[in-house]
Amino acid sequence: MKSIIFDVDTGIDDALAMAYAVNSPELDIIGFTSCYGNVSVGEATRNTLAVLEKLGKFIPVYKGADKPLQRETKEDFAKGVHGKDGLGNALEREPDSKAENISAIDFIISQVKEKPHEITIIAVGPLTNIALAIQKAPEIVPLVKEVIIMGGAVRVPGNVTPYGEANIVSDPEAANIVLSSGLSVTLVGLDVTMQTLLPISKLAPWRDSGNKVGQFYAEMTEYYIGAYESFYPGIGGCALHDPLAVGVAINPDLVQTELMGIKVVTEGEETGNTVGYEVENPTVRVCTRVQADQFLQHFLQRIETSWEYK
Ligand code: BDR
Ligand code: CA
Repeated sequence: MKSIIFDVDTGIDDALAMAYAVNSPELDIIGFTSCYGNVSVGEATRNTLAVLEKLGKFIPVYKGADKPLQRETKEDFAKGVHGKDGLGNALEREPDSKAENISAIDFIISQVKEKPHEITIIAVGPLTNIALAIQKAPEIVPLVKEVIIMGGAVRVPGNVTPYGEANIVSDPEAANIVLSSGLSVTLVGLDVTMQTLLPISKLAPWRDSGNKVGQFYAEMTEYYIGAYESFYPGIGGCALHDPLAVGVAINPDLVQTELMGIKVVTEGEETGNTVGYEVENPTVRVCTRVQADQFLQHFLQRIETSWEYK
């Protein structure tokens, strides 16, 4: 079983990834860390707590960064894609639970030091929390087992600019710190996540499950698919970005990878571009191909066990 710290900016596909992860016995999630991104950090923390309550899983949540290292956040974050509440406007009420008293950054540092070479970080938002942890305690770098990042677009166009993917564009300086730190990274970018689409037809059993968790997920995901349709007319589904990072954590054989160095552009129109280059000791495994059908089947089977919780 892998010991996981799961860094999220809970949004809709983050919530899908959470359901997948907490229902996967291969992963032992020791804590969620929140970051601004799809929504503010306050909303991301609230959404993470609310989704865990819905799923009936009480795993600690640690609040993280409220803005990029050197930039400002976008005023409306990504609410056009994820809804006003970040969960497709499906959140009916505030969660009862609260975030822990220590920060995401201190939680990451303390856990990595307490369990050297054991912790896998799955990061599916901007990379600010991880960069801040490295800046505060650079000695953790060789002690982290691996980092699986949903982010980047190495050989394909971006999704928020022609070159940049949302998580990297949000904080390119943080991404550069993480990707050049020497951490062992698997980069699950748009190169593969745009190939793992969830078709709208798969939501019918969720909606018809008669279960409140299934219905919540159906409502939220329908909103996300609506946003996808407006950006990519005729697509008929949504990309399972963040869930694929979880899939790779469970089964690395789902993807083919190429080892390289990655530099993130921080100025000009290509800001956020993740550029591959040859380097003597590369530490970034860039995902280049994915077994999309196998992944989708596995994702659906695991996530649908959440509907058994009432
Ligand atoms: C990434 O950006 C966010 O909007 C999603 O949650 C995902 O992590 C996709 O580019
Ligand atoms: Ca995300």
